[in-house]
Amino acid sequence: MDPVKACSIKLNDGHLMPVLGFGTSAPSEVAKSNVEEAIKTAINVGYRHIDSAYLYLNEEEIGRAIRKKNADGTVTREDIFYSSKVWGTFFRPELVQTGLDTSLRKLGLSYVNLYLIHFPAALKPGEELFPKDKDGEIIFDTVDFCATWEAVEKCKDLGLTKSTGVSNLSCRPLEMILNKPGLKYKPVCNQVECHPYLNQSKLLEFCKPKDIVLTAYAALGSDSRKEWVNKNTPILLKDPVLKAIAEKHRCTPAQVALSFQLQWGGVVALAKSFNEKRIQENFQVFDFQLTPEDVETLDGLDRNIRYFTDIQRPRCSPAAYPELARALLLSVSVLKPGFHDSHPRTAPPSSASNPQAGERRPLPPEPRMRRRPPRTRFEILPRRRGLGSQLGSLPTHRQSLPSCFAEGSQMCTVRQNLWAARAWPS
Ligand SMILES: NC(=O)c1ccc[n+]([C@@H]2O[C@H](COP(=O)([O-])OP(=O)(O)OC[C@H]3O[C@@H](n4cnc5c(N)ncnc54)[C@H](OP(=O)(O)O)[C@@H]3O)[C@@H](O)[C@H]2O)c1
Repeated sequence: MDPVKACSIKLNDGHLMPVLGFGTSAPSEVAKSNVEEAIKTAINVGYRHIDSAYLYLNEEEIGRAIRKKNADGTVTREDIFYSSKVWGTFFRPELVQTGLDTSLRKLGLSYVNLYLIHFPAALKPGEELFPKDKDGEIIFDTVDFCATWEAVEKCKDLGLTKSTGVSNLSCRPLEMILNKPGLKYKPVCNQVECHPYLNQSKLLEFCKPKDIVLTAYAALGSDSRKEWVNKNTPILLKDPVLKAIAEKHRCTPAQVALSFQLQWGGVVALAKSFNEKRIQENFQVFDFQLTPEDVETLDGLDRNIRYFTDIQRPRCSPAAYPELARALLLSVSVLKPGFHDSHPRTAPPSSASNPQAGERRPLPPEPRMRRRPPRTRFEILPRRRGLGSQLGSLPTHRQSLPSCFAEGSQMCTVRQNLWAARAWPS
């Protein structure tokens, strides 16, 4: 069997997606020429899934690399699974296709394999990636997220993308799309931050029965040089538990982190490296298997740690909160502590192996035991008042407001922050 197909997962629209993707976003100080070289190396090594976005400003280089590898006979266009993302400044339905056309023009391709809504917040249309007002506040736009989705569906109908998906969505906006009257295409995947420190077990449980693949970004713990990455987070690949498991299997912590997603979670993983040796190393993840005990141990590392914070928690003044809430699809709820929703990611039966083409892995069995004490979560109660009135008594200095981007835990962060904010002295 074609090894690439053997390591692909069948999406809910019938297309195949290679389970290991090559990430391409890099800190701004990294020269764009490195992207082109890295893509060529990655294709030579065997990667067939390449992830990028309008935001990354590297689609010209990626397109050039793909076309060169096509010209030298290494791959055909059909061998490559390329995903791009519509950026927030193109969320108005009439602009979505313009966003994709711009990406395609830069790539020199006639279609992408997957087009994702990058994150659930619309930004003021225009040239600026992060439009800001005179006070430096991000300017959001008010767009019906479902209308944006319909425009993405239209791109599929036009043949500009094979599949359609979302990114950085929690259950709530995902459900909004799924319940949308006249939904034509279900998202095939939800690309979110996911790694042993943030295992996304709840979101995974939400997505799996709905046949929505979870794609893990920052699966290696990302790169602290990136503007949006929290500098105060522990380095995942230096985690002693990860290191011990790697030593046991005579592999590297990066390979363990990727295998954690691929072998047991039924998750597609993205790995970025522009270093030839590490590009190769990261691709050698199908040569060993983690044991169920390894997975349970890795599962126990979940600490609700997010590397990507700032982009998900735009800073804005309290006056702009209602606008931000609308932009982030954040309807306000009254919150109550004490809701537990920890679902350990458990290993499937030992017979499970790497995914086969056309097959979906079996759902993991129900958790057998809970080793860790459940974390305190907050329950959403029915909406009572608007965000504006709820936050009316907040202090007036700038405060980081989290969004509804990621699953459960992040929504909880929203709520915890709201509680915390309420407790602040004015
Ligand atoms: N949808 C979204 O909002 C979103 C957000 C973030 C990322 N993404 C996508 O997901 C991809 C992956 O995420 P990411 O780039 O943030 O982080 P990542 O893949 O978790 O980690 C990348 C970092 O790990 C290093 N690295 C790679 N392999 C290594 C190894 N074997 N040993 C040690 N270090 C290693 C890389 O450095 P070197 O390059 O020097 O090897 C780089 O600094 C992105 O590139 C992008 O395509 C999507």
